[in-house]
Amino acid sequence: MKQGIIFDLDGVLLSTDEMHYAAWKSVADELGVPFDRQVNNLLRGVSRMASLDIILSHGGLTLSDEEKEAVAARKNERYRAGLQTLTPDAVAPQVRQTLAALKERGLKLAVGSSSRNTKLILEKTDLGRFFDAVSDGTNITRSKPDPEVFLKAAQFIGLAPDDCAVVEDAVAGIDAAKAGGFLSIGIGDAAGYAKTDHPIRSLRDLLDLF
Ligand code: BG6
Ligand code: MG
Repeated sequence: MKQGIIFDLDGVLLSTDEMHYAAWKSVADELGVPFDRQVNNLLRGVSRMASLDIILSHGGLTLSDEEKEAVAARKNERYRAGLQTLTPDAVAPQVRQTLAALKERGLKLAVGSSSRNTKLILEKTDLGRFFDAVSDGTNITRSKPDPEVFLKAAQFIGLAPDDCAVVEDAVAGIDAAKAGGFLSIGIGDAAGYAKTDHPIRSLRDLLDLF
């Protein structure tokens, strides 16, 4: 029986996909590189800089490190402007109910997200209070599919990877979970991925697993 659950944030507890899409689309248009929802889907779970590298390589454009920093900062400014409009209503009631029920069953809950904006999202949606620890883009040096963000999350809640499950919607996140020695639970895109240990259709399915 697992004692802890580590949740990816975006795509699992809520979705800010449209905000990422709009922000990347506006900077891609300014750079004159193509960007569509298919490319946007490749960016799930991937860090900001690695996302920009994917967009540039799709568009066949090379930029200096300095230029890339400036473009990534512009994207983030626009994404954060979108995040300011988030309210607790962005989180489905069943997500809050599931987190509350899991906590009541004595499980330790953590967030494991590549986003450097995790704390802002948790604050705007009032989700922070459900978690014993938060591991995010600000405390790692290697992004998913590297397991660092989940290993840190497990460390923060004082558990070994073997005692924790990871809930993910991204293929890169399932790869990270498996590389770290965690049980992987996949929702959305990740539910159909071969490396996923337990596919689920809805977060409340966790109540049958724990
Ligand atoms: C993840 C998203 O949660 O965070 C990725 O799935 C995103 O699409 C990554 O690139 C990094 O986010 P941020 O907020 O640090 O730019
Ligand atoms: Mg995700």
